[in-house]
Amino acid sequence: MILVFGSINLDLVARVATIAGPGMTVLARSYEQHFGGKGANQAVAAARLSAPGAVAMAACVGADAFGRDSIENLDRNGVSTELVRICDTATGCAFISVDTKAENAITVASGANGALSAGDVPDTMLGSGTVLVLQMEVPFPASLDVARRTRKAGGRVIWNCAPVPPGLTRDEAMALLDASDVLIVNEHEARDMATVLGIPADDIAQLAQRSAATCIVTAGARGAFASTADGQFFEAPAPVIEPVDTTGAGDTFVGAIAVALHEGRHLGDALRFGCKAAALSCFSAGAQGGMPVRDALHGMGAL
Ligand code: RIB
Repeated sequence: MILVFGSINLDLVARVATIAGPGMTVLARSYEQHFGGKGANQAVAAARLSAPGAVAMAACVGADAFGRDSIENLDRNGVSTELVRICDTATGCAFISVDTKAENAITVASGANGALSAGDVPDTMLGSGTVLVLQMEVPFPASLDVARRTRKAGGRVIWNCAPVPPGLTRDEAMALLDASDVLIVNEHEARDMATVLGIPADDIAQLAQRSAATCIVTAGARGAFASTADGQFFEAPAPVIEPVDTTGAGDTFVGAIAVALHEGRHLGDALRFGCKAAALSCFSAGAQGGMPVRDALHGMGAL
């Protein structure tokens, strides 16, 4: 079972010529509403690439229309929602600007995501077949607790350290790495982690060697690369595409890596699978709109 412990957001997306900087106001013709949240996106990405019944999510939403719709969306995509709790805080909401180059800027109002706790995952859900997937949009202590329990039960942990919280301490970063089998970050996040840990910014080998975790870095159009704790290095190219919207591409990559590792694939194959899935996800608007099903990747020679 792939278990995603993470955030659910409703994404409000405005398409703009230029993303507003501090003190600026920019106009968009309209806005779109999409399902999002890094946790929910990764769960949907994994479910679309997996056999039915393989993916579950633990999360919190509010007792509002956004929350109800988000649960229905997960159900429709084949994600088990038994561990999605309805609480008395509004469902998380993300305000997203996408510019003409398909780059984005995101502000998240966490809302109900802040109520998710370690107690939302019973020990009975964790075993040697569990692949736990985490991000950084729900309380860190709760994620750390579930990560440690998963490893104690013999399962594996994939931690997407996104976004890197501004106040992340060295001890927290080390605890995160020590509780992870695989760390996934983009280039900015890799630099932020390296700064917190006091190691050279571009040295992911050192990041991996600081713990027993495999470190994967996504690099957009340049693909992805990985370094293992025992010094092996892997890389995969990104297919050349004209993206419509890159929101959720990183989440698609994480979901695909979870599926590949759950299936026992080699790390190099997993990277190629992740890059192809992430590229396909960029052809439609919204984080989840373009996430591919498994058949869509067969034509690209993936797994
Ligand atoms: O990674 C993209 C996601 O980040 C969006 O769906 C938004 O909800 C934010 O959480």
